[in-house]
Amino acid sequence: MNPETEATMLETPSLTQPPEDVDTDDCLSTYSYLFSPDVLKDRVAFITGGGSGIGFRIAEIFMRHGCHTVIASRNLQRLSEAAKKLVDATGRRCLPLCVDVRQPQTIMAAVDQALAEFRHIDILINNAAGNFLCPASALSFNAYKTVLDIDTMGTFNVSKVLFEKCFQDRGGVIVNITATLSYKGQALQVHAGTAKAAVDAMTKHLAVEWGSSKVRVNSLAPGPISGTEGFRRLGHWSTEVKQDK
Ligand code: HXC
Ligand code: NAP
Repeated sequence: MNPETEATMLETPSLTQPPEDVDTDDCLSTYSYLFSPDVLKDRVAFITGGGSGIGFRIAEIFMRHGCHTVIASRNLQRLSEAAKKLVDATGRRCLPLCVDVRQPQTIMAAVDQALAEFRHIDILINNAAGNFLCPASALSFNAYKTVLDIDTMGTFNVSKVLFEKCFQDRGGVIVNITATLSYKGQALQVHAGTAKAAVDAMTKHLAVEWGSSKVRVNSLAPGPISGTEGFRRLGHWSTEVKQDK
């Protein structure tokens, strides 16, 4: 980093301090802009699982930067409540839509509805996932399949529909939310670890194949994020495992 930029960042408290920790799916009470507030002005992002946790916060930050959003998952009531909070806090538009990422028909219908509302979609965040702690020997065949269906198939299904209906002609950005579970292998997580590793592989394949259509595809693997369902289900455990080492 250029020393002048670094010095400016160190002098600016908002850039050296993390944002407030929010335990619930509510918007931040204050927000310090790291990027230009208009950096996503009038873009449209389709965020799976955008009604809760990390997906909700991604929607909020995008909207604070001028983006409109579609938040899509199974629980329409929770999505509608989330959309209201997001619109109230940011003044941008947010369309809540019912989707099961395992069911392509529901994705196609939602994307059609989103295009009717916004005319274009520029960004896809594949954030929807399912997970729980379970030893491999106790995992039923269906439990393993369920997590792969949501995380891996779901990511492919939504990416394919968006590509065919939108990105193929006008380009776009896909961000796949993955995890670090498979980097070393982790107990009680064979289902989620293999599902997310497959998504990381999918990211590279699609980036190569769709790059010429101006579609950028990346993975983003967060560490444990407090105040989320993932953390409630797994975070305490993974922190304890690290401390025991
Ligand atoms: C073992 C379980 C289980 C559990 C469900 N199953 N929960 N097995 N331990 N805790 C089994 C069931 O018995 C069933 O198998 C099969 O999984 C499917 O269960 P359903 O309840 O029918 O599935 P469904 O209704 O589709 O729900 C999916 C789900 C659920 C994943 C099971 O928990 C869900 O909807 N989760 C969404 C929210 C979520 O998980 N958020 C956390 C993401 S965090 P049988 O054989 O009985 O039919 C994350 C963090 C990563 O990914 C990294 C953190 C550090
Ligand atoms: P979360 O709030 O439970 O988010 C998961 C979302 O996926 C929910 O909004 C859920 O909504 C949706 N979803 C689940 N199954 C679906 C399906 N079949 N179709 C459509 N939507 C579905 O948990 P989170 O912790 O924020 O996790 C978000 C992402 O971050 C996940 O990809 C997770 O693997 C990743 N991650 C989280 C952490 C962490 O510490 N939290 C760490 C690393 C990676 P509905 O119930 O309404 O469908």
